[in-house]
Amino acid sequence: MYNLFVPCSTSILLGSLVANLSAANCYKADHLKKPENWALVEKAKYYYIAGFFLTVSPESIQLVAEHAVANNKVFMMNLSAPFICEFFRDAQEKALPYMDYVFGNETEAKTFSKVHGWQTDNVEEIALKISQWPKASGTHKRITVITQGADPVVVAEDGKVKLFPVILLPKEKLVDTNGAGDAFVGGFLSQLILEKPIEDCVRAGCYAANVVIQRSGCTCPEKPDFN
Ligand SMILES: Nc1ncnc2c1ncn2[C@@H]1O[C@H](COP(=O)(O)OP(=O)(O)OP(=O)(O)O)[C@@H](O)[C@H]1O
Ligand SMILES: *[C@@H]1O[C@H](CO)[C@@H](O)[C@H](O)[C@H]1NC(C)=O
Ligand SMILES: *[C@@H]1O[C@H](CO)[C@@H](O)[C@H](O)[C@H]1NC(C)=O
Repeated sequence: MYNLFVPCSTSILLGSLVANLSAANCYKADHLKKPENWALVEKAKYYYIAGFFLTVSPESIQLVAEHAVANNKVFMMNLSAPFICEFFRDAQEKALPYMDYVFGNETEAKTFSKVHGWQTDNVEEIALKISQWPKASGTHKRITVITQGADPVVVAEDGKVKLFPVILLPKEKLVDTNGAGDAFVGGFLSQLILEKPIEDCVRAGCYAANVVIQRSGCTCPEKPDFN
């Protein structure tokens, strides 16, 4: 079932996925427009594109984003890295109005704030401002989700901020935090596409991240025990 469309190979721990068209850096919009590839776009209802893709093919992002808005589907990106916010600012700004969900970590959020001259380092305030950035479609609101390592996950929507504590982990069990952000988004999306409430999405995100940081590399056990 191609319910969720992820154009780069970023995804882990997703239940029902995924169209992996190409992870190559030479990805071109022409490739996306090929009927067999565009068919996957049309089939999906949710799109998640990592911000890094802005460095590869902003045109492809635009195509998918416009399709999502025109068809009332859900378009999501992450901020990906501070350098994306700084050096791909224009491309990111162009995509932002289409985003229904924005994911990021605290460093990326602060960089985004700095780049836009918001003069605040307060992650809750930044998340709120990102969620209130103008939208291309009136049908979905924007939800901003910022992770902060061991500190609570910040979720901004409808002019309000909610904090969700993560699953705390004793130091000796923390093996490798690489991929924590991706695992979080993977877990989050696994519930979102089941149309679960945001609380469940965050809980699954934290669960997935918690599993991944207790292992070396970005791996997961054969059988998850999330419920
Ligand atoms: N020290 C920690 N203790 C408990 N949970 C953690 C810790 N670090 C990360 N996590 C979990 O992982 C999630 C994402 O973490 P973080 O904000 O560090 O992402 P990130 O910086 O994008 O990660 P990376 O870039 O390494 O993939 C957190 O919301 C939390 O659920
Ligand atoms: C957030 O992610 C970036 C990579 O995008 C990383 O450099 C930074 O250390 C992360 N911040 C925290 C607080 O983990
Ligand atoms: C954003 O996506 C990139 C690429 O998949 C990943 O490395 C990063 O950890 C993600 N960050 C967050 C906070 O989701």
